[in-house]
Amino acid sequence: MTTSTAGVVSRDRVSDCYQPLVEEARQAYVSTDTYQQATNPNADPEFLDRFLIEFCALGVHMTEPVDRWIRGAGQRCRELGLSELGEALERHAEHEAGHHLMMINDTRTLVELWNRSGRQPLDADELLARPPSPGSKRYIDLHERTIASDAPWGQLAIEYEIERLSVVAGPPLMQNVAAVCGEDRIDALSFLTDHIALDQAHTVFNRKQLNQLLAERPDAAESLGAAGSAALDVHGAFLADCAVAAR
Ligand SMILES: [Fe+2]
Ligand SMILES: [Fe+2]
Repeated sequence: MTTSTAGVVSRDRVSDCYQPLVEEARQAYVSTDTYQQATNPNADPEFLDRFLIEFCALGVHMTEPVDRWIRGAGQRCRELGLSELGEALERHAEHEAGHHLMMINDTRTLVELWNRSGRQPLDADELLARPPSPGSKRYIDLHERTIASDAPWGQLAIEYEIERLSVVAGPPLMQNVAAVCGEDRIDALSFLTDHIALDQAHTVFNRKQLNQLLAERPDAAESLGAAGSAALDVHGAFLADCAVAAR
């Protein structure tokens, strides 16, 4: 890295050039009816329990391909001359492999807790065998479309926004779950618990990569903002699907 490049990278281009483009979508996400319901201290415990089961069961479709998506975006970035970013993404991909197994496991644990409570019994295998919900489908399509586009670095913005959600939107949700449904749900939610911790480092990594990319290609800001905003919008649609299925 040259001295002049280092000088440019030290500027916080994420705050200056990217954040203003996603601020509205970030606010919209935490204002959605579903996120508000899930973090409401007066939430119905049965609804919240069922919502969490749906979140884990339907979330498998969106988590299983993550390492392939990041690796694919890395390869496309290298093809377009962004070799450092491409290699960094390919390294990050390894850290995401297999995380859907946590969601499968959590679905089974939460269904066991549900069935022990005397509620209408649920079958974890049946819940896991369903196709992606409309929101999950849109989430999958967004990734596939972004990686195949002429702005594959949009995957970095998608990943930044979604991993950032673990850090900023995850803790209030978990605090509410513990209070409304019981502390035992926290151990059962290994994916969320682990990602609230893991994604702190991943968010720092993504932000650093975004800063470097914006230094190298300032004109990428618009496509990054669009991809990051779309990711928040479709993730909000997925949460709404979980709430509908929970009722
Ligand atoms: Fe992950
Ligand atoms: Fe992550």
